[in-house]
Amino acid sequence: MSTDRILELSELWAGYGATPILQGVSMTISRGEIVGVIGRNGVGKSTLMRCLIGLLETWRGTITFMDQDVTQLPADARARAGFGYIPQGRDVFSQMSVEENLQVGELIGGPKGKKLPELVYEYFPRLKERRRQIAGTMSGGEQQQLAIGRALIGNPSLMILDEPSEGVQPSIVQHICEALKSFRTELGTTIVFVEQNLDTIMAIAERCYIMEKGKITRSLTGEDVTADNVRAQLLL
Ligand SMILES: Nc1ncnc2c1ncn2[C@@H]1O[C@H](COP(=O)(O)OP(=O)(O)OP(=O)(O)O)[C@@H](O)[C@H]1O
Ligand SMILES: [Mg+2]
Repeated sequence: MSTDRILELSELWAGYGATPILQGVSMTISRGEIVGVIGRNGVGKSTLMRCLIGLLETWRGTITFMDQDVTQLPADARARAGFGYIPQGRDVFSQMSVEENLQVGELIGGPKGKKLPELVYEYFPRLKERRRQIAGTMSGGEQQQLAIGRALIGNPSLMILDEPSEGVQPSIVQHICEALKSFRTELGTTIVFVEQNLDTIMAIAERCYIMEKGKITRSLTGEDVTADNVRAQLLL
């Protein structure tokens, strides 16, 4: 296996109850890439992310992460192995302060996770200003920064974000995009993100996988990652 490959999904099948949603999803991600997974509502993007992170059982197929078969590993073990996950809708602890949310990130990050709260505050100064504020009272964009910061505390090799721009005002989306690019450049973080927002995709995606009805039907690479092509795939 090539050493620059960090993640490989091979023919993944998964679903809910007896209903298959993912129907043979394959993809390969190299270290340090920023890759978008795009597609219309309900095609299975979030299901794919849940399967990847271990919150949903894989029926068939394999997930290989840093040359290790993680298909059967539970989510907490995958987190310790280097997965970081920011779910759709963010999911911060709304009754806890910013600071306390970040402390939970330290716990989730486990003994191998570097303690990075100061680094989080460098990328997201707004969180430092608001570190004693109760998370549930902050704006959508502030909560998204917190959710990303909490994942960053675990020092993930692979950060997985499910629609980071959803419900976030454009100026903060821009800031988040810059931060994600800095994680890659400065920390070497590989990033896979689900997104339907054209501006966000164009701002950060180096490659895109297109998902339709539980399958990856094509990909856009290099100079094919244009606004027109992406828009056509999203069928806006
Ligand atoms: N917990 C669940 N139980 C049963 N079915 C589910 C569950 N979660 C999602 N589904 C179904 O799986 C399919 C794919 O949903 P999923 O959330 O993965 O789509 P998505 O591409 O992320 O959509 P969106 O763009 O709206 O976020 C949908 O038909 C959805 O109704
Ligand atoms: Mg979704």
